[in-house]
Amino acid sequence: MAKRQSSGKFSQIQPAKGKLGVMIPGMGAVATTFVAGVEAIRRGLAQPIGSLTQMGTIRLGKRTDARSPKIKDFVPLAGLDDLVFTGWDIYTDDMYAAARNAGVLERDLLDKIKPFLESIKPRKAVFDRNYVRKLDGPNVKKGKSKMDLAEQVRDDIREFKKTSGASRFIMIWCGSTEIFLRPTAVHASVKAFEKSLQQNDEDIAPSMIYAYAALSEGVPFANGAPNLTVDIPVMSELSRRNHAPICGKDFKTGQTLVKTILAPGFKARMLGLSGWYSTNILGNRDGEVLDDPDSFKTKEESKLGVLEHILQPQMYPQLYGKIFHKVRINYYPPRGDNKEGWDNIDIFGWLGYPMQIKVDFLCRDSILAAPIVLDLVLFLDLAQRSAELRGIGIQEWLSFYFKSPMTAPGLYPEHDLFIQSMKLKNTLRHLKGEALITHLGLEYYD
Ligand SMILES: NC(=O)c1ccc[n+]([C@@H]2O[C@H](COP(=O)([O-])OP(=O)(O)OC[C@H]3O[C@@H](n4cnc5c(N)ncnc54)[C@H](O)[C@@H]3O)[C@@H](O)[C@H]2O)c1
Repeated sequence: MAKRQSSGKFSQIQPAKGKLGVMIPGMGAVATTFVAGVEAIRRGLAQPIGSLTQMGTIRLGKRTDARSPKIKDFVPLAGLDDLVFTGWDIYTDDMYAAARNAGVLERDLLDKIKPFLESIKPRKAVFDRNYVRKLDGPNVKKGKSKMDLAEQVRDDIREFKKTSGASRFIMIWCGSTEIFLRPTAVHASVKAFEKSLQQNDEDIAPSMIYAYAALSEGVPFANGAPNLTVDIPVMSELSRRNHAPICGKDFKTGQTLVKTILAPGFKARMLGLSGWYSTNILGNRDGEVLDDPDSFKTKEESKLGVLEHILQPQMYPQLYGKIFHKVRINYYPPRGDNKEGWDNIDIFGWLGYPMQIKVDFLCRDSILAAPIVLDLVLFLDLAQRSAELRGIGIQEWLSFYFKSPMTAPGLYPEHDLFIQSMKLKNTLRHLKGEALITHLGLEYYD
């Protein structure tokens, strides 16, 4: 165990010894693109483009020190060879069949790793059509109560712990977007939640049952969908109690990624904004699920918060007091996973003169999401091995990866990608007892 001075505190990080078991509810486009990608990279068939943990560097000390190690050489992360996988889905397709069905990666690549992908078969899902109306599948658990279903997921986790050969574990939700739910008294404490699990309360969605099971087994949980899942007091309580870090929600990929790159730039230059119209066409299963207004509402809330938090209209009423912000997602099957997102941005400058920016992003949703899944798996595992991070619950330093970052109660989230990036890297420096980088730089002129 390494002991290091960290901003006056001792920060201990246990080494990444042994295998890391990755458990994925939802074996669809994102999950299969992630798992197949990891295997392709392990075999030297492709590069981990888009992954900060694999490709990123971190500057340490002064600009004149020339110390910029790779992040994976700076903090002890699990290696790709150490990852082993399991998953749950309502369909019976193994990872190969599911990846073929998702249509993201080329058949040629998938065929090279077919036996590996075929070996990952879905466990029976906890699923209820009342929460995802557009889907229905045969591979679903039956139980007397929601508590019974949670016990069955806990059994799955224990079984994977025994048979996978892994010593550490992570769960990451790559399942569908559920209907919009608000936090209620049911979610306020572990006690209330457990009573409501017994009573089959409708405020408990399937994704919460997985999260409850994982955290109860001491397994960290990341939420890739905009679902409420772990963004409720009961999960923070369980997370802290069992030293199983949590983070979420909703992977920050295509259009929202672009939004959180552009909007901080407008604000930094004090350019006004009167409207931002975002529309998408998307033809994958995610698009089909989001065709249901109640699932779309969950996504919409997640996407809309971004501008308000970045632009702070209450502080700049002349610039951002009257923004018309609209987000649309249209299900259009011919495009499959290759989404097209249009943004029309109405800005104004000096003396109020209007200008327009048009962005047409022909993106690949799951190609953007897969490296996020990898980084979150590796960083959450790091957090659980860090004496300083494992007991704090929400890992806000991972906001970088999310459309709706979770924060401690009463805090507003940071959406600006560059603030998020600085926060993440400074957290890593802090963990290793390195000086934080403020970009002040006056010392170079002494
Ligand atoms: N770039 C992106 O693709 C992106 C970005 C942000 C968020 N997301 C979110 O990530 C999630 C996955 O996206 P995707 O494109 O892979 O979707 P997908 O539809 O291809 O895959 C989701 C899978 O989850 C399964 N599922 C649904 N409910 C389940 C349950 N209760 N238990 C187990 N399995 C369940 C479905 O059967 C499906 O196979 C979605 O919620 C999506 O909104 C994706």
